[in-house]
Amino acid sequence: MYRPAADRYDRMTYRRSGRSGLKLPAITLGLWHNFGGDRPYEVARTLCRTAFDLGITHFDLANNYGPPPGSAEETFGRILKDDFAGLRDELIISSKAGYHMWDGPYGEWGSRKYLIASCDQSLKRMGLDYVDIFYSHRFDPETPLEETMGALDAIVRAGKALYVGISSYTSEQTARAAAILRDLGTPCLIHQPRYSILARWTEKDRLLDRLEAEGMGCISFSPLAQGMLTSKYLSTIPEGSRAASGKLDGGLIDAEARQQLAGLNEVAAARGQSLAQMAVAYVLRDPRMTSALVGASRPEQIVDSVGALSNVSFSAEELARIDKLAFEAKDWG
Ligand SMILES: NC(=O)c1ccc[n+]([C@@H]2O[C@H](COP(=O)([O-])OP(=O)(O)OC[C@H]3O[C@@H](n4cnc5c(N)ncnc54)[C@H](OP(=O)(O)O)[C@@H]3O)[C@@H](O)[C@H]2O)c1
Repeated sequence: MYRPAADRYDRMTYRRSGRSGLKLPAITLGLWHNFGGDRPYEVARTLCRTAFDLGITHFDLANNYGPPPGSAEETFGRILKDDFAGLRDELIISSKAGYHMWDGPYGEWGSRKYLIASCDQSLKRMGLDYVDIFYSHRFDPETPLEETMGALDAIVRAGKALYVGISSYTSEQTARAAAILRDLGTPCLIHQPRYSILARWTEKDRLLDRLEAEGMGCISFSPLAQGMLTSKYLSTIPEGSRAASGKLDGGLIDAEARQQLAGLNEVAAARGQSLAQMAVAYVLRDPRMTSALVGASRPEQIVDSVGALSNVSFSAEELARIDKLAFEAKDWG
């Protein structure tokens, strides 16, 4: 029987999501890869136990995580029963809908029809009465934003989610979404964008300024650029890695990229951190960032990421060096 580490809350820092009442762990575990029906259940279970023992109270899912789509939620539902029974009030569980989930015109994007049906399906797969955060996974250019946000509000009013969020919306779309939700009386809790040393669209779009103005938090996904910002690809593409399994474009890791990563690795070493730790610290350096949303295939990777929390500040020289290295050889966009 699993007994959570007694000192789990001493090891983690918790940050308030915008101006809400909710604090999230500075590191969140995402279940996009490695939790599908194609992976051994015991691996998934060990990853979740390791995370919770380190004070990671937040687990991030979506309808389509697998493969097959939906199976990560089923796996997590099983872990909730087997290991986390009795711990529901210590957990923040999120899910999302926006990408293709089922055939026909109602199985993706942002209609009320899709979002409400998808939320019901996610709850069933996880065996939950409610999720803590339910997201619109992507902006739908063809559905009125009032309808998408109205569906999020309806999900909260039906007791199926406590808070709502949006993912990968631009600053301008975020401002519109936040205004609609505010008028409906369901404030938008959080935004989930891609953000890392190598992925900076949020900086160009001044997203954090917008979120601060709206009182929203921010949780950045793929802070390790899917594993590229770790030491694993410095000289080779190791067996069993995401790049080796074809789920990350291995072709991206060419000589130019390696040179860039080697430079970043040197900056990390001078800070006394692994490259992965510096990458996590980098996204958390702004206190307006609520959490870094990492993935993991092994428990040691979660331990490594949490180790980043001992130093999340950067000198101006370090930041300048990182900027130069991140964009000089190859622009990842
Ligand atoms: N909202 C959205 O549209 C969206 C999109 C993508 C992701 N997400 C969320 O963000 C979460 C994280 O995304 P991600 O998995 O791309 O994040 P990531 O943290 O950038 O990459 C995680 C991967 O990096 C490798 N890794 C992690 N720590 C390592 C370490 N210390 N040393 C060496 N390798 C390490 C592992 O890959 P290996 O398999 O190679 O070991 C791991 O699976 C997802 O699970 C999901 O919840 C959301």
